[in-house]
Amino acid sequence: MVQKKRAKIVVIGSVNMDLVIECDRLPHPGETLTGQDCATIPGGKGANQAVAAARLGADVYMVGRIGDDTFGRVLRDGLEKNGVNTHYLKTTRGVSSGTAMIVVQKGGENSIILSPGANGKVTAKDVESALPVIRNADAVLLQLEIPTSAVLRAVKLCKKHGVMSVLDPAPAPVSGLSQGLYRVDIISPNETEAATILKGKNTTPEWITRRLLEEGAGHVVLKLGKRGSVHADRTGVMTHVKGFKIRPVDTTAAGDSFTAGLAVARAEGLSWADALRFANACGAIACTRFGAQPSLPRRNEVLRLLRSS
Ligand code: RIB
Repeated sequence: MVQKKRAKIVVIGSVNMDLVIECDRLPHPGETLTGQDCATIPGGKGANQAVAAARLGADVYMVGRIGDDTFGRVLRDGLEKNGVNTHYLKTTRGVSSGTAMIVVQKGGENSIILSPGANGKVTAKDVESALPVIRNADAVLLQLEIPTSAVLRAVKLCKKHGVMSVLDPAPAPVSGLSQGLYRVDIISPNETEAATILKGKNTTPEWITRRLLEEGAGHVVLKLGKRGSVHADRTGVMTHVKGFKIRPVDTTAAGDSFTAGLAVARAEGLSWADALRFANACGAIACTRFGAQPSLPRRNEVLRLLRSS
């Protein structure tokens, strides 16, 4: 895929330090398990998407908050080293940086508990202050690890200024999504998240995409894990693109890698089918490596996988 232009991406979301322990399996309630050494790895759905987009060749701004602590300094530094502009990443006094406790079991499945810390202090005003870069962006990437009021303001600003908005509805709220969030151009859940927000049982991709479109989303891109992904919109055409065969090591941040890939590919003008294939490759590579941000692929690695299959 020849890069005809550098996509301009703004990510509004969370920045976390992940504390990760590898274990043979996930613990049962009340059980104590012994795992490997605890690793401290930069993560957060927002920051992961920002780093992923930058490694794919986009110009990226990160909008969010970190605490005035050691983790915060390491996280900002890591973003900058990856070429992400942190002008709109605020350091907040008296609060810890976001932290995620992650257990990864053999085969790659994980379990995450999040402590939002400074992410919980992101305001609609923070989002408004980033308007100069939002209105110039090709795409704005959103997730749900910061207050909904801030995400809603971002959706409104994108609508007003004709900027493509992409929502990863994760973590999926059990109470469902605020109606205003369905005004995004692209909603991109996985099947579990979609079932949670739609309160559905025995869901199929056809049912999920139809319901999300009925709620108001412009396009639905459903992540199906190793089965690939599906695109649907109001034309009634549904496109399924198969996934890549890989041996998963750790699925942490695979969804973030996918979403960043999708946004970059669409911003560069790829068709839906090609954008899904590109995004599938981004997600697949992230599954083959341990940790969140260290697992995110660079553009040349993605192109190599696309050429080889
Ligand atoms: O999507 C993966 C991310 O979810 C992790 O990096 C962790 O920080 C949690 O936010």
